[in-house]
Amino acid sequence: MEVVIVQDAKAGGELVAQGIADLLRRRPDALLGVATGSTPLPVYRALAARVRAGTADVSRARIAQLDEYVGLPAGHPESYRSVVMRTVLKPLGLSPESFIGPDGSAEDVRAACEAYETALTAAGGVDLQLLGIGTDGHIGFNEPCSSLASRTRIKTLTEQTRADNARFFDGDIEQVPQHVITQGIGTILEARHLVLLATGEGKAEAVAATAEGPVAAVCPASALQLHPHATVVVDEAAASKLKLAGYFRHAYAHKPAWQDL
Ligand code: F6R
Repeated sequence: MEVVIVQDAKAGGELVAQGIADLLRRRPDALLGVATGSTPLPVYRALAARVRAGTADVSRARIAQLDEYVGLPAGHPESYRSVVMRTVLKPLGLSPESFIGPDGSAEDVRAACEAYETALTAAGGVDLQLLGIGTDGHIGFNEPCSSLASRTRIKTLTEQTRADNARFFDGDIEQVPQHVITQGIGTILEARHLVLLATGEGKAEAVAATAEGPVAAVCPASALQLHPHATVVVDEAAASKLKLAGYFRHAYAHKPAWQDL
């Protein structure tokens, strides 16, 4: 994997947004896999700014959701579908028709998982999947010890993840659902390009385990090491526990001109 160290979250957002804009120039109807949470917000802001400035054309882009809470009523403001509508589709001027995602309010959640796998395949697969990372190393909501070959399915959140996400639910962990639908690690690995963004010191340990640790289900993000085109973009704080930081900086400074993000 390629590890790119940037100064701060804003610089990470700019870099990834530019990578998405470049992809859309090559493939205007690319299927972009989006993550929710705080980390990718600077990416969506930077991309929307490019659209306003006329330097990015997202008009034919398609958006695929990574994961979803189970059991929140349809339209709940913190359902990930609502979050993606609010933070991605609306600022980019995309209609809901350009969006696919799992149905977390379905009565038959298992069937909803299967239906989402089918929808991803029918859409031609994800071209670029943007990922955040949990403090416990999760990607999507594949918590530690998820199968590295897993497909879209129901998972139970760890207490750590529920505590981390309580800030979106008035700080009340009790309001954070116990269950989620998430693309599996095997599903995520099928995207043509994986871009993991991590910012802040709280992610430093998980980032080091992802990039420098063994490939191990205890750190689900380490599965990115198995992908032929994975880019990990980290700010200085999130890079602070990388032993190879010096090499990563050197390699990026000498990046071949033909290589994209
Ligand atoms: C969200 C998701 C999660 C988050 C992760 C980090 O769709 O899949 O893996 O990316 O929990 O969340 P933040 O960015 O809020 O720290």
